[in-house]
Amino acid sequence: MFSEEHQLADLLNQFNTTADTGQNRLVYSEQWLHNQKTLILLGQKYGAKAIVDDYGNVSLDFPGQEATLPIATGSHMDTVRQGGRYDGLYGVLGGFCAIQKVYQQGSLPKKPLRLISFSEEEGSRFPAAFTGSKHYTGQQQQVAALVDETGITFAQARENAIKQLQAMPDVRRQRAPLPANFTELHIEQGPRLSQAHQSIGLVTGIVAQNRYNVTVHGQANHAGTTPRAQRQDAIATASHLMARLYDLVDRSSNSLTFTIGEIRVSPNVSNVIAESCTFTIDCREESDERLATFLSAMNTVVKQFDNVTIEQTLHVPATLLSQALRKQNAEIATQMKFPFRELFSGAGHDSQIMNTVVPTTMIFVPSKAGISHAPAEYTKMSDLLIGVALLTASLSAQANE
Ligand code: GLV
Ligand code: MN
Ligand code: MN
Ligand code: MN
Repeated sequence: MFSEEHQLADLLNQFNTTADTGQNRLVYSEQWLHNQKTLILLGQKYGAKAIVDDYGNVSLDFPGQEATLPIATGSHMDTVRQGGRYDGLYGVLGGFCAIQKVYQQGSLPKKPLRLISFSEEEGSRFPAAFTGSKHYTGQQQQVAALVDETGITFAQARENAIKQLQAMPDVRRQRAPLPANFTELHIEQGPRLSQAHQSIGLVTGIVAQNRYNVTVHGQANHAGTTPRAQRQDAIATASHLMARLYDLVDRSSNSLTFTIGEIRVSPNVSNVIAESCTFTIDCREESDERLATFLSAMNTVVKQFDNVTIEQTLHVPATLLSQALRKQNAEIATQMKFPFRELFSGAGHDSQIMNTVVPTTMIFVPSKAGISHAPAEYTKMSDLLIGVALLTASLSAQANE
């Protein structure tokens, strides 16, 4: 097993297909499917048993001396639209390299190891996020009827992709039994580590997050002939509402983040008054209580506008990750002389969901200039390799305890 070494740089090049325009590995897309297939073949080549569940989460189980629950690592395979080369994928491929290195140490580890490539974390194709890890952990979800921007339902997209993955030779089709614990390697996606010249972040917790779709309803009509009193212009109302919400944000705590990242207008034609304008809200806070206070004020503002509907598409509470696993990683990082700091994550992660069922921890590496969810996302190879080295030592320690 693992006689030849797969290098992280080569794997990242192989799994990232586009250059300057960013990665578009939306869940169940062709590129997503291609990558999950490639990963399964890679794992099988090195003796892993592949499991694919009905959401397309891939688990690769590598053997241990004892038949105990596996020590797991991994992250998500999907990206946002025009995303970067590392978000999610680094945790999958860096996890593969770390597992490879544990097996190269000689004897089989006592406990089995597992690499997980979650199907979807970003919520970029359908208005639902973490659908992969939620399924993995047995949460019920009502997502089948959600549609993407082309009108394809989640159920249709999923079925088409999953049947191809599950038809691969020697793939077990089932929900994977839960592992003993979970460690996610990830880029920081913010500026703190790079500003502090530290190579490692050990994550204490993850922000609470709510997302919404807000729709303003108007009346499509002629841009040039409709008198002012008769115009029901969805964009005019939406822009007033957005300005009021941004005012509210300005008066809130500094740890609140508020993003209107997507606006859809119908019919989206220059000489037609907009019939509808739908925009998303992504709202995060370190504290559940402060988030709830802001959301209540936000809903009060929304209610002051006529012809507006608001639908919640995501709620995840703030999460405190495993202290015991973080402490163990801090000790290993100290021994390995890697400068590290403990930090809270403003980005959402599958670890938030895994942490509800098994002890979970995260290892961050720096993001250049703190840029992420954009084609300019970059982490230098030496930092990526420090993350893999810490993960290797961590998995090896856990698997041989
Ligand atoms: C996902 O990466 C998120 O934090 O939005
Ligand atoms: Mn991610
Ligand atoms: Mn992301
Ligand atoms: Mn994320």
